[in-house]
Amino acid sequence: MASLTDIAWSDFAALSLEAKRPYLARREGDGMPYHTLFAQQFDRALLVRLCALANRIRFINKSKEGALYLKSVLAHKRAMLYFSQPSSRTFLSHLAACQILGITTGSVRDAATSSEFKGESKEDSIRTFSSYFDMIIMRSPEQGLAEKMAWELSNSSRPIPILNAGSGKDQHPTQALLDIYTLVRSFENKGGLDGRTVVFCGDLLRGRTVRSLSYLLTNFRDVRQVFVAPKELQVPADVTDILTAKGVSYSVSGNLREAVRDADAVYMTRIQDEWDSSKGASARIDTSHFKFGAEELAVLKPDGVIMHPLPRRDEIATCCDHDPRAMYWRQMRNGMWIRAALIAATFGFEESVMNCGY
Ligand code: NCD
Repeated sequence: MASLTDIAWSDFAALSLEAKRPYLARREGDGMPYHTLFAQQFDRALLVRLCALANRIRFINKSKEGALYLKSVLAHKRAMLYFSQPSSRTFLSHLAACQILGITTGSVRDAATSSEFKGESKEDSIRTFSSYFDMIIMRSPEQGLAEKMAWELSNSSRPIPILNAGSGKDQHPTQALLDIYTLVRSFENKGGLDGRTVVFCGDLLRGRTVRSLSYLLTNFRDVRQVFVAPKELQVPADVTDILTAKGVSYSVSGNLREAVRDADAVYMTRIQDEWDSSKGASARIDTSHFKFGAEELAVLKPDGVIMHPLPRRDEIATCCDHDPRAMYWRQMRNGMWIRAALIAATFGFEESVMNCGY
């Protein structure tokens, strides 16, 4: 069994994402991640298990008795939410997921209120959290920090799991899980997700949710991916290289209306201008053709769905909000269920929740 204690950081860091996967898995050998850092840790079997567990938790939570049972599952655990980048949904849904499972939480949402402000390194801060908590859920502008911390903690006297809640422009694995859960639920009684066409639109260059979801979709059969963006913000080669290597059919386009006609799901994203190299650089790009409005709604298939990781600016017109195909509100709530499932599974409670009497 591969373990992070058996490999030097520099050797681990040099591995491909697929090769890193066994080092991040639970020791019990059930394939489930211990540290959740990137989408490449999930294959189809794991996705099916997590969606089933999320469904189960959602169902159990409906009755008072069930909800009280769920609250007992991880009542002996504490989790630290360490978010050094802005967040509403990812923070709150992880918090709510912890609450569903009875986990006590602490949080730092602004480094200015922690000892980082006094010059403490992020590494030391995270070591500090591990003294008091049993899991760290972290979001950072720094790509690779969650991975480094996972290695550090696994090699410390208090190894605890890390959940990546967004790492720079790189990955957002739990968002991709909730996106998959939403897609699976959307097509549940309509023939499933295999064979569908998913259109990504917006800032595909710097959107971490796109990178993680694009990978997770490769676990499904014949899912075609279409990337619609202004050419300055088109999908980067590292994403399409994976699709090419896996033989996934994809195309790149500048025409949203046309792409929507063939789409089963349209995944809109906002312009990630916090990453602009010079202030206002994104504002000079013409993004006017990359917005979903009444005309796009009119050509979307009757069974099609509109998704967005949120927050939205003006990429989806509010006139779409009450259409039954607008899935972004449900998508947000699905985040709570799938994160509860992932956290329960991380701590080894998948089977007991699946088989409980509720
Ligand atoms: C996304 C993120 O932070 O990457 N939001 C989220 O987690 N729901 C997308 C975004 O900020 O545009």
